[in-house]
Amino acid sequence: MPKLYDNHGRLINYVRLAVTDRCNLRCFYCMPEEGIKYVARDALLSYEEMLRLMQLLAGMGIEKVRITGGEPFVRRDMIHFLRDLCATEGIKKVNITTNGTLTEALVPELKAMGINSINLSLDALDRDRFLAITRRDAYDKVMQTYEALLDHGIPTKINAVVMDGKNTQDIIPMAMLTKNDPVSVRFIEEMPFNGEGAHYEKLAWNHRAILNHLRAHFPDIEKVPDPPHSTSYNYRIPGHKGTVGIIAAYSRTFCGTCNRIRITPKGMLKTCLYDDGVFNIRDIMREGASDAQLRDTFLNALGNRAKDGWEAEQNRTFGLPVQESMSTIGG
Ligand code: GTP
Ligand code: 5AD
Ligand code: SF4
Repeated sequence: MPKLYDNHGRLINYVRLAVTDRCNLRCFYCMPEEGIKYVARDALLSYEEMLRLMQLLAGMGIEKVRITGGEPFVRRDMIHFLRDLCATEGIKKVNITTNGTLTEALVPELKAMGINSINLSLDALDRDRFLAITRRDAYDKVMQTYEALLDHGIPTKINAVVMDGKNTQDIIPMAMLTKNDPVSVRFIEEMPFNGEGAHYEKLAWNHRAILNHLRAHFPDIEKVPDPPHSTSYNYRIPGHKGTVGIIAAYSRTFCGTCNRIRITPKGMLKTCLYDDGVFNIRDIMREGASDAQLRDTFLNALGNRAKDGWEAEQNRTFGLPVQESMSTIGG
């Protein structure tokens, strides 16, 4: 079976599958507070369609699947789907990115089925700032999920989007979580995917500013090796159990080793986070395409892939600024 190489020689072995655009929070960097038009349910890829795709992609060398949303656990019967996905031949790692509001009670089941790791979105350790960012009062639920993940020994990363004037006070307290907890706390550059056409000429809290801020408080912070294809540059504060990471999501400094594709809730294939979609797999499947035809379609798409997120952004047919909400992309 042909493997998924792109036209720049990069092997694609990681797919990010966004299972829903719905979410029970309203984080302002991700979507507007009101007026959101959710995708109709029959326009979403069904679980059967997603499993077929994952089996097909596993045959082409995909080994890691990350489930994203919206919030994955607002979709009904998610646990059954995850169990089937974990049992799919060739898929070695199933990871989930979740906001943690509905996750706590599921943690034992996630552990039992073999979920590889969980990335928890949490942007503040202060209840009022959490509410101001997410527009929902769910801080306790998320923290309970965090504790449950640690208790069950599921490898956990915290994703914190750094926002000027919103949560920079939380950077140091969040980094301090790594003192006693074996967690990776990752600070993320804010990207212009808030569903309202945000556009930055210059990002105040870019990866350098975040690192300088950490260094000012932890002068001994040291670099640790990054896993292959890592989105984060990783550091350790001496004596701490966990690590701190910085994700240059807007500066796009890690594109050279990019190993990932995305499938949106409506079945659009994105070969880069910053492109506006290459083709709709759902439509092709619903027209009756064979597995061989689907494989050819993926190979063709990857044969014409932008070299980085800057080129992908320039090539957008729907133009700039980006109008999408992160919840329709999956992050
Ligand atoms: P791991 O699999 O644990 O390494 O996680 P990940 O960083 O691939 O995924 P996660 O869903 O935790 O994303 C963390 C942040 O990195 C989010 O803000 C994502 O939007 C961003 N991110 C993930 N993949 C990419 C990418 O390919 N390009 C860019 N620019 N940002 C990305
Ligand atoms: N910029 C950067 N990261 C974002 N995420 C969502 N929206 C944005 C944005 N505008 C992150 C969430 C989640 C991950 C999938 O993407 O924090 O953890
Ligand atoms: Fe890959 Fe595009 Fe992300 Fe760069 S911005 S790492 S090319 S998905």
